[in-house]
Amino acid sequence: MVKMLEKFLEGKGALITGGASGFGKGFGFAYAKRGADVILVDINEEKLERTTAEIKKETGRTVIPIKCDVAESDQVQSMAKQAFSELDNIFILNNNAGIGVPYGPDLLRLKEKDWDMQFNINLRGQWLVSKYISKRMKKQTFEPLAGKIIHTASIAGMIVDNKIPAYSLCKMGVIGMVKLLAQSLAPKITVNAISPGYHVTGVYNDSEEAMLMTMEDGHVKTPLNRLGTVDDIVQVSLFLASPLSNFITGANIPVDGGIAKAGVPAYYIKTDI
Ligand SMILES: NC(=O)c1ccc[n+]([C@@H]2O[C@H](COP(=O)([O-])OP(=O)(O)OC[C@H]3O[C@@H](n4cnc5c(N)ncnc54)[C@H](O)[C@@H]3O)[C@@H](O)[C@H]2O)c1
Repeated sequence: MVKMLEKFLEGKGALITGGASGFGKGFGFAYAKRGADVILVDINEEKLERTTAEIKKETGRTVIPIKCDVAESDQVQSMAKQAFSELDNIFILNNNAGIGVPYGPDLLRLKEKDWDMQFNINLRGQWLVSKYISKRMKKQTFEPLAGKIIHTASIAGMIVDNKIPAYSLCKMGVIGMVKLLAQSLAPKITVNAISPGYHVTGVYNDSEEAMLMTMEDGHVKTPLNRLGTVDDIVQVSLFLASPLSNFITGANIPVDGGIAKAGVPAYYIKTDI
């Protein structure tokens, strides 16, 4: 079993939105190392080119960058068309692109333009990408599954947070959408979500200090008493991309050191993580 897992994506294509940075970059490296050919989709062209070159150099795999704003339907449709002309299959889709927002006004004070911007990228964007990629993915002849879709949600979609109300609602929407997509695409495609907690990536300007300030501001304590890493998320994504998870669909897996599900024990007196 372990041997099979070493190159379990040989002959498979993986498309990752938000693939230039943070978790997306981590997924790209991990899949390419397991034998996949990879398409990285991102709005940030400069980072996209850099990440593509890094993954190519380290793994020797085919890595194709496609610039696309996932909030724009015409761009998503032409991205999907290009993706299937570059690779003969897309077995894994990581629907991961998203933007974070700093703590701000509550739901009733939120500006309409801020609501729209967040919903367009964080919820509508993920819907558009699944809609247009799954059209071709479900016709693939792999057995027992034609493909696997993994959305990046957030624990903010599990515990509503009125300092980031639109972000919370988008991520609740992603968790709900994953169940609907799992129904629509069964039995050929599994659709699951990963909900990260606090991990240093581009949404915190790659700054641990900025993330710690956010956690302090929100009085966040992590039961497992350490900060999240990109690798914590990548490992679970590998599990969802592998045959080990073939009987799981419609699920949301929090990967957050226990914040959303375990909660903080009353005797918690450790460090301020
Ligand atoms: N870092 C965390 O702690 C955390 C926690 C919960 C959820 N998330 C989610 O993880 C996902 C990935 O973010 P990350 O943390 O790796 O941050 P990141 O900023 O490093 O990566 C996000 C990538 O998405 C791209 N992107 C943004 N808007 C886009 C658009 N309209 N079209 C195409 N690409 C776009 C960015 O250019 C960037 O490369 C997001 O959905 C985010 O909401 C992150």
